[in-house]
Amino acid sequence: MCGIIGYFGKRKASEILVDGLRRMEYRGYDSAGVACLHDGVLGVVKNPGKIKGLREKVDASELAPIREAMLGMGHTRWATHGEPNEMNAHPHLDASGHFVMVHNGIIENYKEIKAGLAQHGITCVSDTDSEALVQLIAYCYQGNLEKAVTEALKKVKGTYGILVMTDHEPEKLVAARCGSPIVIGLGKDETLIASDASAIIPHTRDAMYLEDYDMAVITADGVQMFDLQHAPISREVTEMDWDAGAAEKGDYAHFMLKEMFAQPAAIRNAIRGRLDLTMGTALLSGLDLSPRDAAQINRVLVIGCGTSMNAGMVGEYAIEEMAGIPAEVEQAAEFRYRNPIVSPQDLVIAISQSGETADTLAAVREAKHKGAIVAGLCNVVGSTIARETGRGVYLHAGPEIGVASTKAFTCQVAVMLMMALKLARGRRMPRHEGEELCRGIERLPELVEKVLAQSDAIKIVAEKYADKENAFFIGRGYLFPVAMEGALKLKEISYIHAEGYHAAELKHGPIALLQENTPIIALLNNIPGKEKTIGNAEECKARKAPVIAVVSEGDEATAEGFDDRIVVPDCPPCIAAVPTAVALQLLAYHIAAARSCEIDQPRNLAKSVTVE
Ligand code: G6P
Repeated sequence: MCGIIGYFGKRKASEILVDGLRRMEYRGYDSAGVACLHDGVLGVVKNPGKIKGLREKVDASELAPIREAMLGMGHTRWATHGEPNEMNAHPHLDASGHFVMVHNGIIENYKEIKAGLAQHGITCVSDTDSEALVQLIAYCYQGNLEKAVTEALKKVKGTYGILVMTDHEPEKLVAARCGSPIVIGLGKDETLIASDASAIIPHTRDAMYLEDYDMAVITADGVQMFDLQHAPISREVTEMDWDAGAAEKGDYAHFMLKEMFAQPAAIRNAIRGRLDLTMGTALLSGLDLSPRDAAQINRVLVIGCGTSMNAGMVGEYAIEEMAGIPAEVEQAAEFRYRNPIVSPQDLVIAISQSGETADTLAAVREAKHKGAIVAGLCNVVGSTIARETGRGVYLHAGPEIGVASTKAFTCQVAVMLMMALKLARGRRMPRHEGEELCRGIERLPELVEKVLAQSDAIKIVAEKYADKENAFFIGRGYLFPVAMEGALKLKEISYIHAEGYHAAELKHGPIALLQENTPIIALLNNIPGKEKTIGNAEECKARKAPVIAVVSEGDEATAEGFDDRIVVPDCPPCIAAVPTAVALQLLAYHIAAARSCEIDQPRNLAKSVTVE
């Protein structure tokens, strides 16, 4: 979603800001802007549309601050309140033109604030909730910017990550957060501030993460941190372990393609050092569960959104089947408002690539409040969910830039399988079965490599179906969540209307929609239930719908009579979820490429959904 970048140092700010915004493009946005402060003068340049357009405007700008300043802020906006035009783009100036701010999040009481300001003759010009906040800060100003920000934030309901500057104090940048991430990068003679580590990694690896209600004041003397009562606080400096090259596309046509091909390495990283073949178990020290704690778990709840929820569903099946613990997966937004029944014997696993998804974070807080053991399964180190859960497992998949999640999904499944293994071995799973599962998990990178090697063959199938407008994915057991994920990938990047269904559910409605131009992607791997899914696929054929059969290697005969086939390695059901998902990622990718879609930044989508 919206991205924030700030700079204070000795280099030309506008260049660093625009470059930082470019690195955050993947988050999804529809307008962008920068503001710079030089010699007590503010300059702002904004542009609806892509960063390329903003860069051209910045390069052509005659404004001294844009050309000279070494202090500034930038923003990519994903419209929530008001359409994506120049007026609604950030940075926002107050009515006097002396204060400027960028904001991520939502100011829920902005109408109230605007009405209050109007009584003092202050009128907002944009449709945004954000502008109300900069006007309020300006209104609260009495000679000290951080105090004005503190005063204003006390009146705000909602979420924010903000950067603020004023020409009254030309050597200062103030940052604050509540609910929207802010990371401060400490470079040599410079400080970078961003909502997303990928924007600052090329400049420094030393970072401090703001907690909710923290404020940072950045001056030439460095960074000072305060709480909202204005008492000084300190935050640990940690080293960001991401490789800057991981956030570059390299020779790949798209980040999504690069990330799909990075999956064998990403899964190796996710499982490295975590499998104990001698004991036939998984070593997940971050979960911080003693064998006694683990034995007392009555139920596992997995919460997440989007792709992460689909990965959680594979985990649900594995935990129930292997550990014999009742497990459920639930959409995080539903969990947070449903007043769920949660007990101290429940293990709640919050699964989130970014670690910042608003609904998943709120669900974590609700589960903690109700006394559950809450663990995070996040990719982004130091993200809010990782920090607030305080225990969990990092994916170590490296930065995922493509909006459509690929390597995070397969690593999430790998980690969920290791969690299931750990819980199972503490209960009823014998050591030899544990060893077998360890070996299965260890094989995941190699199985994924085999699927990736078929990219060209999958492309040929994809091109046959690229002109369709509807598609259904069907599967059973561990492949039911994979069918859901396959459909999600296809709709996200190709805009084909695609739905994932349990194969048995097709007859209860969707079959009414089948025609000869509605392809069915049937997951017919060699796993229990295969014969029944074959029957369901036959029913589709009988309605003239073309069927793409996904079958196991060595069992190609299953695809006979169907229109096309994709072959994936033969492996046990829980393991099969991963290579099968990779085959569906490739199918979606090649279909979207054939349709010339904007694969890495699909319309209306955001990588990290930090608002409700
Ligand atoms: C957005 C992204 C998806 C992602 C979902 C959950 O919708 O576009 O790719 O699966 O959010 O995000 P999370 O960071 O919590 O995994």
